[in-house]
Amino acid sequence: MIEVFVRYAHFIGIIVLASMLVGEHMLLKAKISNQDAKRLAVIDAIYGISAIVVLLAGLTLWLWVGKPSSFYNSNPIFHAKLTLFVLMGLLSIYPTRFLLKHRNSPDTVIEVPKKVINIIRAELLILVIMPLLAVLMAHGYGNH
Ligand code: HEM
Repeated sequence: MIEVFVRYAHFIGIIVLASMLVGEHMLLKAKISNQDAKRLAVIDAIYGISAIVVLLAGLTLWLWVGKPSSFYNSNPIFHAKLTLFVLMGLLSIYPTRFLLKHRNSPDTVIEVPKKVINIIRAELLILVIMPLLAVLMAHGYGNH
């Protein structure tokens, strides 16, 4: 039963994370209002919390509940999945810092560097690849 709950948490975390990323992408334009900057900072914070939920549930599935951890430890597909997750985390630093800096900005118009939008797009692309890796590793691909 614990495993069911942890898997559910992993999925809800992924759904919220994906929703926040799409929401950020929709709100971000070359120029945004300071109200949008505030909204985006809130969305980004929820994104961060959901990433922590995904990580904690993922670690639990790996190390405690479900299959033995040895099933994943030396699976290159699992390592690729973890690497992409870390990459997503690193990529998100720049947009997060930008949004934190401007969330209480007195300027009515805030210019958004193209880099911020492109990074969100790269994260969305990574997010499309990760479930494929997850399903493959869960089915034992990559184990020998
Ligand atoms: C955005 C990031 C992530 C996505 C989209 C994702 C996606 C998924 C999906 C779709 C499954 C179900 C696979 C299946 O049952 O067929 C799954 C299971 C799993 N995930 Fe993740 N995951 C993410 C992050 C992580 C992280 C960071 C870890 C480890 C720290 C992790 C560890 C696991 C484990 C151990 C399972 C169980 C696989 C099995 O049933 O054998 N995941 N993940």
